[in-house]
Amino acid sequence: MTRTLLSRLAAAFAVVALAALLAPMYAEAQVNPTQSSVNEDAMFQALGTSGTVSGRVTIPDQASGNLIVPDNKAWAVLQGQTLHTLSIVAVVGMVVLLALFYMIRGKIRIDGGPSGRRILRFNAVERFAHWTLASTFIILALTGLNLIIGKSVILPIVGESAFGTLSAWGKVAHNFLAWPFMASLVLIFLLWVIHNVPNRLDWQWIKAGGGILKKGVHPPARKFNAGQKLIFWSVIIGGALLSWTGIMLLFPGEVATAADWQFYQVIHALVAAALSALVIAHIYIGSVGMEGAFDAMGSGEVDENWAKEHHSLWVEEVKSTQARNTAQVQTPAE
Ligand code: HEM
Repeated sequence: MTRTLLSRLAAAFAVVALAALLAPMYAEAQVNPTQSSVNEDAMFQALGTSGTVSGRVTIPDQASGNLIVPDNKAWAVLQGQTLHTLSIVAVVGMVVLLALFYMIRGKIRIDGGPSGRRILRFNAVERFAHWTLASTFIILALTGLNLIIGKSVILPIVGESAFGTLSAWGKVAHNFLAWPFMASLVLIFLLWVIHNVPNRLDWQWIKAGGGILKKGVHPPARKFNAGQKLIFWSVIIGGALLSWTGIMLLFPGEVATAADWQFYQVIHALVAAALSALVIAHIYIGSVGMEGAFDAMGSGEVDENWAKEHHSLWVEEVKSTQARNTAQVQTPAE
């Protein structure tokens, strides 16, 4: 009896001993958590040098096994420092310039004073397209700017919790509002491209400084002057670039590799910063900077004296069309 018990105990011991011997060999064949791909020390060393940290992946895209590659580090510096500084300089620089302009030139008034007569400048469809484009662009610009400078500028002010909520909602807004932005961009292009073809008058307008530098100077212009054509084409070309790079960033796996995303991200951020600065100038001149300008996009109707001073040839075109229409109505059909 005792002998049987002893021999069973010996057999059990042998099994345990064998398992203890084989276990490390078996474990080696499985995932090794201390391999270089997850070795923090190796990663930190690679961060400070031009080294690469890569692991093994079983999916076809082998590049997805790279944790740290020198090109990515260059991009991280570009994104974290250069684009960060450029965005702040573009936006704050434009605000400072406009504040100086306002202090020197003041509000651009209607020289002849308001006439009290109104003239239709933009119909409901044009205003709807403009305000859809404007409101979506402003939210996209703010939520995009948050991705670049939020961590260093907004986080210290509002704290981690509020910044987290703000950024999470901001990202959702950014991804979804891109679509109405693109739709209104196409609509704006179709509605106004005919009025934005450059011509000889534009050069005259530019030589006269657009009439905004000196009082009493009013270079002739049709529906849009050279300054507005600049805004129009910047918005169309900049908006198209933002849309193209944005779609690439929105569907990363489908269309682009990691190196491509970095390219698209840099173009996206640079165009956004430049266009935002230009749009700030546009908002200034369309609101506080010029008496009577906002009405064009508010009610759609502007004062006749404002129109004569800033778009004299357009007023003549509108008046002659009205006169023709009235004449047709008054001539009885035979
Ligand atoms: C609160 C913000 C804005 C205000 C107050 C504003 C105001 C105006 C006004 C009054 C006009 C008509 C000017 C005229 O009678 O000739 C206009 C035109 C236009 N707006 Fe805006 N706008 C704003 C935002 C934006 C934004 C964000 C964009 C584009 C991203 C934009 C794009 C345009 C374009 C392309 C035109 C036609 C060209 C021009 O007049 O410069 N606007 N805007």
